[in-house]
Amino acid sequence: MSGDASTVHTDGIPPDALSKVQEYLEPFHLSVEKLREVSARLRKDLVRGLGKHSHHKAPVKMLPTFVRATPDGTEKGDFLALDLGGTNFRVLHVRVVEEEQKVLKMDSQICAIPKEMMLGPGVQLFDHIAACLNDFLVSQNLKGQTLPLGFTFSFPCEQKEIDKSILIRWTKGFNCSGVEGEDVVKLLKEAIHRRGDYDIGSVAMVNDTVGTMMSCGYRDQSCEIGMIIGTGTNACYMEEIKNVRRVEGEDGRMCINTEWGGFGDDGCLKDIRTEFDVVVDETSINPGIHNFEKMISGMYLGEIVRLLLVRLTENKLLFEGRTSEALLTPDAFETKFMSEIEERDGGLENTQNILTELGLKWDSVDSRIVRLVCNAVSSRSARLCGAALATLANRIRVNRRLDHLKTTVGVDGTVYKKHPNFSEELRATVRLLAPDCDITFLVSEDGSGKGAAMVTAVAQRLAHQTQQQSTNVLVS
Ligand code: GLC
Repeated sequence: MSGDASTVHTDGIPPDALSKVQEYLEPFHLSVEKLREVSARLRKDLVRGLGKHSHHKAPVKMLPTFVRATPDGTEKGDFLALDLGGTNFRVLHVRVVEEEQKVLKMDSQICAIPKEMMLGPGVQLFDHIAACLNDFLVSQNLKGQTLPLGFTFSFPCEQKEIDKSILIRWTKGFNCSGVEGEDVVKLLKEAIHRRGDYDIGSVAMVNDTVGTMMSCGYRDQSCEIGMIIGTGTNACYMEEIKNVRRVEGEDGRMCINTEWGGFGDDGCLKDIRTEFDVVVDETSINPGIHNFEKMISGMYLGEIVRLLLVRLTENKLLFEGRTSEALLTPDAFETKFMSEIEERDGGLENTQNILTELGLKWDSVDSRIVRLVCNAVSSRSARLCGAALATLANRIRVNRRLDHLKTTVGVDGTVYKKHPNFSEELRATVRLLAPDCDITFLVSEDGSGKGAAMVTAVAQRLAHQTQQQSTNVLVS
């Protein structure tokens, strides 16, 4: 599977240097058997996370989302959406048009979140969010209206209701005080009330994976998995309610936010973690947390590559043993460089430009070795993600007692979208590990924003249906 890609990438490296470099890269090459083992471990962890008594200690949290249905195509209306969780914060005005089965983004605005704010008091963060929302409402002439709001908050939350969601812990570089253990919807509403100059309608809280699934679900109603591979990584899927032991009910399904980024936090991935993964974890702001994510997602991949390059240079396998200040600076090797370096056409030239930018003196063999290193790291990420996705698809198939499952996955995130061979490698892994599942991948455009509006719209539809049913009962 990766054979093809690595042959291309080893061209032009003298055999002697190649075999020495391969020694460092070997731990990144996971065999299909190993991936099957990883998938089996995750399968067990999904069950632990769902259990009434086992979920407290489960590394894969399996959080109920209170999203009980995917769209049926009859939803409509105007909504506001907030999206917090990646590198930027966004406010959107979204219109769901039933006749065209479309979710339209009417307008949106990006507000930067300064790094100090990501680590400062929570009140300051929420005041900033409320101020950005105000600016947007003013610019859109929407200030007098009280529109329903979908809030995509892409961190692990214990959801109590669709509009009550307690932050379990920050991930991905955020660490604001006074928010963990608190209801995020309440913090948002309080910040809006402190201002007192506008109001919002009903609120629906959503994880970005759920938003992605729901926005794709309007286009393709068999979309029952949402996956993100961007700054962080995670997935959600539709689980049978009877298996969600923490929620009352026997019939129907509920979307579960797996928080698979936490897989391995109990040490179960020790055998595949490399010394470089250990350093990335130990030097992060949340050591010991989200180990799987740290092997896969955009926030960390570049740093793994940088650490490998430093090691190879120290051992005189690169740049004649001479590093540069940039190469020795944490996070200076950005994940987006990997996409540019691994490009099929022009990749080598990109590599050389990047190395020059990083102040390194390279020759043609160096640039080929750097490309090989990037490929080993991105390829491991894609295959691990593929193994995890296969585990979810297999679970859905077994849940429904099907010999064959046909389903759609809504996907978002820069790593998946921008990297030249990531999606291909991920799919190949899923085909190997879930041969009885036929999976269509639907790339979500603006999923977390539009999806939050969609969740709000579906919640309104269900509430309306329930109201109608009770009126009918009264009338008859
Ligand atoms: C992190 C968050 C999770 C989110 C994912 C992708 O893993 O904990 O909630 O879905 O990043 O953004």
